[in-house]
Amino acid sequence: MSDDKARGFARGLTNYGDHDFSIYLRRSFASSMGYSQDVLKKPIVGIANSFSGFNNCHRHFPELLEAVKRGVLLGGGLPIEFPTISLGEVFLSPTSLKFRNLMSMDTEEMIRAQPMDAVVLMGGCDKTVPAQLMGAASADVPAVQLVAGPMMTSRHGEERLGACTDCRRFWGKYRAGEVSNEEINQVEGRLATTAGTCAVMGTASTMACIAETLGMSLPGTAAIPAVHADRLRAGEASGLAAARMIGNPIRPSQVITEKSVENAMRVLLALGGSTNAIIHLTAVAGRLGIKISLEKLNTLSDTTPVLVNLKPVGSDYMEDFFYAGGMGAVLRELKPLLHLDTLSVTGETLGDRLEVDPGYVDHRIVSKASAPLEPQGGLVALFGNIAPRGAILKRSAADERLFEKEGRAVVFSSLEDLASRVDDPDLDITEDDFMVLQNAGPKSASGMPEAGYLPIPKKLSAKGVKDMVRISDARMSGTAFGTIILHVAPESAIGGPLSLVRNGDRIRLSVKEKRIELLIDDAELENRRNAWVSTVVPPEKRRGYDRLYASEVGQADEGCDFSFLLPIKPING
Ligand code: FES
Repeated sequence: MSDDKARGFARGLTNYGDHDFSIYLRRSFASSMGYSQDVLKKPIVGIANSFSGFNNCHRHFPELLEAVKRGVLLGGGLPIEFPTISLGEVFLSPTSLKFRNLMSMDTEEMIRAQPMDAVVLMGGCDKTVPAQLMGAASADVPAVQLVAGPMMTSRHGEERLGACTDCRRFWGKYRAGEVSNEEINQVEGRLATTAGTCAVMGTASTMACIAETLGMSLPGTAAIPAVHADRLRAGEASGLAAARMIGNPIRPSQVITEKSVENAMRVLLALGGSTNAIIHLTAVAGRLGIKISLEKLNTLSDTTPVLVNLKPVGSDYMEDFFYAGGMGAVLRELKPLLHLDTLSVTGETLGDRLEVDPGYVDHRIVSKASAPLEPQGGLVALFGNIAPRGAILKRSAADERLFEKEGRAVVFSSLEDLASRVDDPDLDITEDDFMVLQNAGPKSASGMPEAGYLPIPKKLSAKGVKDMVRISDARMSGTAFGTIILHVAPESAIGGPLSLVRNGDRIRLSVKEKRIELLIDDAELENRRNAWVSTVVPPEKRRGYDRLYASEVGQADEGCDFSFLLPIKPING
């Protein structure tokens, strides 16, 4: 039997020059795990388990794993779990994004190298789902994405709390002197109290919704809370679906197509979802040769309403979204804008799915398309001489009064510079200035952290200033809010125009025109460019993964993927 037709333990053998011996050796070692002869003949569903003691969001994975295994057994497969690295958002330095591509390589190579006929991907925390989707897309073995599900909210007095929009809200109040030391310490213990991913429409929830929209997760599973019994049922059903795909393989390349990616962009915009998701979706699509342009994002944004009233854009939490109807409700409202012939891992098309009765929908949380929260999408790309390849603004989480504005630049040359000066009482800054952070992009020493949510200088926050225009090549947490322009490309660490901005320059922002311009003439910009000197340690003076990352990571508009991980021949482009 040729190796590509082989199933289970007979797949992907080590070549000793004697095929039968390779099978014999494989089976004898597999027998040491206590499998009977009958079990050794079964097809295998691998389960990529990103459980880690450094990932609070995945702490329920041991129980969820048992449910997945049950589903695989029900479908006649042999479930075999394997570990991959895990990316616990707040436990990684310099930033989790740096390791997303590493996790995607780990996932891809372990799917490809080990004998499995299908795979269930267990992820959830921000970078884990994109990493798994990228890896699965490249390996192109039938795969089902199972997400962790969101945390439940908690209480502080009469207020509901959920990680991590409320973390930022309380920290902002603490910085402004409105909350005492004692209270901020109490809140610290109440923000994240259950297993699961952040309780708002942050990056993890946005990516869960995107995975469901793409068709890589089972319908109705994105929003189920981590600790709900339905989450275990989703685990069982995902295992079963993966086992069923063995007889009828549906590959990621059949699911992640230009049309399903466009659907996912629509959903991202309708959710008022995380800015990070555009980077991740670009990277996932890129693995199959599908290009996402920021111009296309703007075209879709102009015609996609914001429908979901969750923090940080609205007022509610993921558990409310689940009870309100979840992704099914959103997709039904968007139906006229979607491609309905896209395929999911169940073998159904999106159109088939949306034929089914939606059940109860709470339109306070999922608005009708005829009465949206906002008529236009949550994200907008800006272009101009500061950002020739684009920048992103989450307009749904920003202060509209700042959308058409000119201001004076107050420049911080790095995160260290920001930390040392932002609260200096002598800092020359007013609320009408534009804060500019340089050297926080993907190739900078900080590796593009979620630092674009620059803190309002204490002397201004104490006066009640809640928002200012802030510009950087960094990212922003999906749980954050403000008039924050992110992902400026090309970044300052490689000499992008952001690196040429100086204190006192004038900058003009126009969200209406989708422009961000540095108001200096071209000749002056050219002089500054000629005088620019890189401060980044070059790859050849680094080692290990840090070296690989520094030399290969792409810009934000390329999804920050490694160029060598793109397909040699576009599969779906
Ligand atoms: Fe894991 Fe927010 S920290 S999703």
